[in-house]
Amino acid sequence: MKIVALNGSLRARSTNGAVLRSALALTDAAAATAGIRELPHFDPDLDHQGATPPAPVAALRRAVADADAVLVVSPEYAHGVPGVLKNALDWLVSSAEFLGKPVAVLTASPSPTGAEHAHAQLRETLRMMSADVVPDACRDLAAIAPKTDPDTGTVTDPDTLQELRTAMAALTAAAAAAATAAPTPHADQPQ
Ligand SMILES: Cc1cc2nc3c(=O)[nH]c(=O)nc-3n(C[C@H](O)[C@H](O)[C@H](O)COP(=O)(O)O)c2cc1C
Repeated sequence: MKIVALNGSLRARSTNGAVLRSALALTDAAAATAGIRELPHFDPDLDHQGATPPAPVAALRRAVADADAVLVVSPEYAHGVPGVLKNALDWLVSSAEFLGKPVAVLTASPSPTGAEHAHAQLRETLRMMSADVVPDACRDLAAIAPKTDPDTGTVTDPDTLQELRTAMAALTAAAAAAATAAPTPHADQPQ
């Protein structure tokens, strides 16, 4: 099983990066983080049918298409989704990679009230994109800073690690179920 992760923070010592790293370390799945820093600004003029997508866009689409599940991790900026992550999602609206794909949304904030706005917005955007947002795989993690070690870039708080373990188990279970449910071609059908 393959999971691809997207992080809405580009910061080297990102607490969301720590959440991402620890969450992926708690699964047996092969995991990779998709680069979104180099994506051009979304432009519908570059996204019409038959257009050759810019190379970073093609790479992102391939990474999501090849994955069995997607982990979206993000901070909240000004009660919204960071532009870099929304930009990445906009490049994936017209292509079919997210259709029915099991997705976990993890948001993390130093705020005691968490990143509730960005969390809700991400889930709504992904739902609109026909992703399979797995409720049990989603968490909004509040007061995250002291629960991470910026030097190792990992989560250190045992309760948060347990939350992540549960969330990732729900994501991989949904991906396994989706793989079982996927129609297998008949032997006499051309592949
Ligand atoms: C431009 C900007 C806007 C922010 N707005 C919010 C906000 O609306 N809500 C919130 O909880 N935190 C907000 N923060 C604080 C971030 O949650 C905090 O910087 C967090 O550590 C960013 O995630 P990262 O550690 O993964 O980079 C904001 C930070 C920046 C730089």
